[in-house]
Amino acid sequence: MTAPITEQLDDPESARESGQRKMDWARQHMPIMAALREEFEEDQPFAGERIAMAMHVEAKTAVLAEVLAAGGAEVAMTGCNPLSTHDDVSAALDSVEGVTCYAKRGVEDEAYYGAIEATIAHDPTITVDDGMDLVAAIHEDYPELIDTIVGGAEETTTGVHRLRAMDEDGELKYPVFAVNDTPMKRLFDNVHGTGESSLASIAMTTNLSWAGKTVVVAGYGYCGKGVAKKASGQNADVVVTEVEPRRALEAHMEGYDVMPMEDAAEIGDVFLTTTGNRDVVVREHFEQMQDGVLLANAGHFDVEVDLDALSDLAVDTYEARDGVQAYEMEDGRRLNVLAEGRLVNLATPIALGHPVEVMDQSFGVQAVCVRELVENGDEYGAGVHDVPDRLDKEVAEIKLAAEGVEFDELTDAQAEYMDSWQHGT
Ligand code: NAI
Repeated sequence: MTAPITEQLDDPESARESGQRKMDWARQHMPIMAALREEFEEDQPFAGERIAMAMHVEAKTAVLAEVLAAGGAEVAMTGCNPLSTHDDVSAALDSVEGVTCYAKRGVEDEAYYGAIEATIAHDPTITVDDGMDLVAAIHEDYPELIDTIVGGAEETTTGVHRLRAMDEDGELKYPVFAVNDTPMKRLFDNVHGTGESSLASIAMTTNLSWAGKTVVVAGYGYCGKGVAKKASGQNADVVVTEVEPRRALEAHMEGYDVMPMEDAAEIGDVFLTTTGNRDVVVREHFEQMQDGVLLANAGHFDVEVDLDALSDLAVDTYEARDGVQAYEMEDGRRLNVLAEGRLVNLATPIALGHPVEVMDQSFGVQAVCVRELVENGDEYGAGVHDVPDRLDKEVAEIKLAAEGVEFDELTDAQAEYMDSWQHGT
């Protein structure tokens, strides 16, 4: 089993200081977390609870963990991707009272899964996942814990898909909130967060411009929409590939070129996958691509770009830049893969993840979901649950108040009108 990060680092003290600076900065821009922290410190809703978290361990997520700990929880945390952990933040988090953090960047599979096991060894009563790793490990290897687990919360689209599939098979044995599916998360985090941070990460990793490039966005879902819009805003020509007819039509009506990947492969300069699906860019596409293309993925798992096929085709491969691996083809073309095909906004060496303000919202929803599980967990049976709208609205209202934005309220007559069917022309 993996040890806490502090025991894994040579110089934990300087790592801790650096991580604390990053967390301080994040805190200053997270008014929702600040408001919830105040409430939780006062009410101690999580006293006696053990919360296991598997999330990208960076500054914003660390703020969520410390807010839950401030509410009385014992928190055990690990990463949800071997390349997205910031070791300094992990060390800072490990020194927060009530928190133990096991995540370390770049570890091999054994240490990665060892850290998940160490987190589960805290016998959680609540799980908070980004990609369903904890739920999967608990159901497969530690089913004896299920009886004492009140529930869980899931952050991302892929995790919610997997949970729904598990639920349909009757295999999900405790309630889990689909945090991803709330308006306060999906309409901001997936769209703006992924759009801004993926493009920023690619630009900073490559030092290349978007202007004049042909950017192929695979998948026109929430993330794809954000990526396409921001790339277009940076003067790139955007091409969209889709498999869902209405989303393909939506992209077409937004003014993007829509075509099969087979055709896009020939003209793209940058390929960015956002599908949550596998084998989106494969051998026949690599064979058509131009010299120097960039290949990046923003979907949850590293299965969207077929790196095995690319390795098979390559006669040589080398690190072209920090975070960029070049694959040289027999005819001399070089195809450049960023961040090993993992989440490009989180896994390149300089990646920072989503903007702080966006994560404040997503984690605000996570925090109120954990509170709901503690307060009303017995009202939810095993399975995937939508987050109650009142909770999502609560988070929106905190944010609007922090921004000093006032908005209207329905009058009684309007509320009655909206609820009635009798009024006509
Ligand atoms: P979504 O379900 O809204 O969109 C996915 C789109 O991809 C759908 O329109 C679907 O029809 C399309 N698609 C599926 N297979 C395809 C294929 N072979 N070719 C072209 N299009 C295809 O999902 P959302 O919310 O956009 O999330 C996408 C992925 O991004 C998920 O894995 C999610 O977990 C991840 N995610 C990543 C974030 C990040 O920080 N990088 C943040 C939020 C989500």
